[in-house]
Amino acid sequence: MARSFDTIVVTGGAGFIGSNLIRYLFEKAGYRGRIVNLDALTYAGNPESLADIAAKYGQEGEGRYFFVKADIRDRASVERVFADYRPDAVCHLAAESHVDRSILGPEAFVTTNVIGTFTLLDVAKEAWKGRGEGETLFHHVSTDEVYGSLGETGYFTEETPYDPRSPYSASKAGSDHLVMAYHHTYGLPVTLSNCSNNYGPYQFPEKLIPLMILNMLEGKPLPVYGDGRNIRDWLYVEDHNAAVWTIMQRGESGRSYNIGGENEWENIRLLGRLIEIVAKEAGLDAGELRSRITYVKDRPGHDRRYAIDCSRLKRELGWAQAHSFDEGLAETVRWYLAHKDWCARVRSGEYRRWVETNYERR
Ligand SMILES: NC(=O)c1ccc[n+]([C@@H]2O[C@H](COP(=O)([O-])OP(=O)(O)OC[C@H]3O[C@@H](n4cnc5c(N)ncnc54)[C@H](O)[C@@H]3O)[C@@H](O)[C@H]2O)c1
Repeated sequence: MARSFDTIVVTGGAGFIGSNLIRYLFEKAGYRGRIVNLDALTYAGNPESLADIAAKYGQEGEGRYFFVKADIRDRASVERVFADYRPDAVCHLAAESHVDRSILGPEAFVTTNVIGTFTLLDVAKEAWKGRGEGETLFHHVSTDEVYGSLGETGYFTEETPYDPRSPYSASKAGSDHLVMAYHHTYGLPVTLSNCSNNYGPYQFPEKLIPLMILNMLEGKPLPVYGDGRNIRDWLYVEDHNAAVWTIMQRGESGRSYNIGGENEWENIRLLGRLIEIVAKEAGLDAGELRSRITYVKDRPGHDRRYAIDCSRLKRELGWAQAHSFDEGLAETVRWYLAHKDWCARVRSGEYRRWVETNYERR
């Protein structure tokens, strides 16, 4: 039987996937309960991404959406959220998420991703004492990067041993292990998902697809790491969120599920495809855009290939991707074209300073 929830705490709900998840739950999934968005608003968090949702479902509207600015590492704040809202589910997305940043400054990745996840798990365990399986759920959103790197062939399955290579993936692997440990040791009802690369609206412009779209529009070079032959599997963010919601409702407690696009692309081929779409949507010259491709020194420890076997999720829970890559990319390009103000605002302040310090003055 499907689980239903009255109050879900979504951590990291002001970030890329989290803001899309909250929008998806209210507007498309038919969720009728309350959502508490717990987010520290780091450089990657932007409440403006949910301004329309706050107006419609917040206190001035239906009273089902709440935003709490809090850090998941701060136990007292997390306890207060549990005491004030009495959630029966947590969907945990808050994290430091950018691999390049984890190479340049790993500490925040360890404290937020490992200690922050521990803090949430521990507060949930205490708050949900005496409530049985089926009454509460802690869902952890994780990445396929915990599995390491693949050669030319093969796929990550849920049984693939963890082999993280970057501080980011190591910190996510640590958090995954803690989630499962809380299930096995304390009986906390948990589900876990490991997903491949997401793309779509509201993605912070330091990630590959929005970075390339904006550089194309702004006449800047299109930097490609190494030989451009690294392979990633790409999934439209709404398909990811539909999978997360499916797992939260019907996934088996204590079980992990891979989520993927079954859509592998070499970075350089992906860029070629994106150039064609941007050229068409923005009326630019594809040849001129191609001439701006610039190969730059490879990222240290750059995993060669990720590919994910998501057959467990398809077979056991009946999920399937709903967006083709061309459709999803065109949708994404149109969104960035229509939201230039959002892009300008998220790229100011702390983000601007970080790019200047770590990239432009290198
Ligand atoms: N983006 C992807 O392709 C992808 C793929 C698989 C899994 N994931 C996972 O999904 C989750 C969300 O990813 P995203 O791309 O939306 O990330 P994001 O960087 O866009 O958003 C992260 C959010 O977490 C918040 N946050 C960071 N540290 C916090 C803290 N200490 N306390 C409270 N809030 C904090 C930020 O303010 C931000 O709103 C992450 O856990 C990530 O590991 C991402």
